[in-house]
Amino acid sequence: MTLLVATSGISLDPWRDALKQLSETIEVRIWPEAGDVRDIHYVLTWKAPAEALSNLPNLKAIFSLGAGVDHLLSGQPLPPVPIVRFVDPDLTMRMREYVVQHVLMHHRRHLDYADLQRQRLWRELPQPPARNVRVGIMGLGVLGQDAAEKLQALGFNVAGWSRSPKFLPGITCFAGEEGLSAFLARTDILVCLLPLTAETRGILNAELFAKLAKDGSLPGPVLINAGRGGLQNEADILAALDKGDLNAASLDVFVEEPLPGGSPLWSHPRIIITPHIASVSDPHAVVNYVARQIERFERGEPLENIVDRARGY
Ligand code: NDP
Ligand code: OXD
Repeated sequence: MTLLVATSGISLDPWRDALKQLSETIEVRIWPEAGDVRDIHYVLTWKAPAEALSNLPNLKAIFSLGAGVDHLLSGQPLPPVPIVRFVDPDLTMRMREYVVQHVLMHHRRHLDYADLQRQRLWRELPQPPARNVRVGIMGLGVLGQDAAEKLQALGFNVAGWSRSPKFLPGITCFAGEEGLSAFLARTDILVCLLPLTAETRGILNAELFAKLAKDGSLPGPVLINAGRGGLQNEADILAALDKGDLNAASLDVFVEEPLPGGSPLWSHPRIIITPHIASVSDPHAVVNYVARQIERFERGEPLENIVDRARGY
């Protein structure tokens, strides 16, 4: 049994040790050294070069190295085998840390205090209690639900928005197009953990920012996007910051990655930028996950976390 690892845009150095773990039961080949393609039953991929996935006559499943699968679904036609995305407590924990960190940074006025520090000014700013700050999470999937629970435990007033209706204890849930405006109207800090699909592309735009709450206890609405860059209109983010529809933003993902050096986002005083690290897939966690899935499948049990290609996530 052979697993082909086909990636682009990431270094495989940190993966070599972890991949060795597999080698007792599964042969690992690394693209472009695919060898005889008839041997390949599984592929583990992140932004695979198009030719790596075509012409694998005995392929049984494709594993995404990340939770998001837009890197697979937005390109070339794929072989008709299940696509399994990465769902793992380690990935969820890392995203929880990022979301809680950035919500707290904006809640506790980090950008304002950093500015005061630069000016050597000792000044106390108004600080609402967490219960008076309304956090809204777009995407109540694996990552969004976990972040919502953790923020609720910190005392924030949390709501979420998803495609299908949800019932989560203590969290106000909105769903679908019809629920979006009401969700935004009660949101001071908007956290986006949506997948990038045909429906969600460009959803973080001027029209949406204008609907965020204007009566919050923080100085103005905040955007935190750790979903995908394609969800956001970056010119609209800058315009909303100028206009006051947004007061600050934390952006982990961008339309073009790496974010080009000339982007005005880099130097905007109200934007915190991180280089798509909100939740990085840990090589050992991924390899254990893939090994477990392959064992299950070979025993005749179903694969887990299969992507619905029609929905796009
Ligand atoms: P899930 O598939 O578990 O959850 C997706 C959520 O988005 C679901 O609640 C789904 O609704 C909702 N959703 C999808 N389409 C729509 C829509 N059109 N309208 C409203 N809601 C919608 O994904 P995960 O939580 O595991 O991951 C979310 C995303 O986070 C990934 O796709 C990836 O892009 C991103 N990510 C980013 C990382 C980073 O480092 N920056 C790391 C890991 C992931 P429903 O529940 O009804 O299906
Ligand atoms: C993911 C990512 O989708 O790291 O897992 O972006």
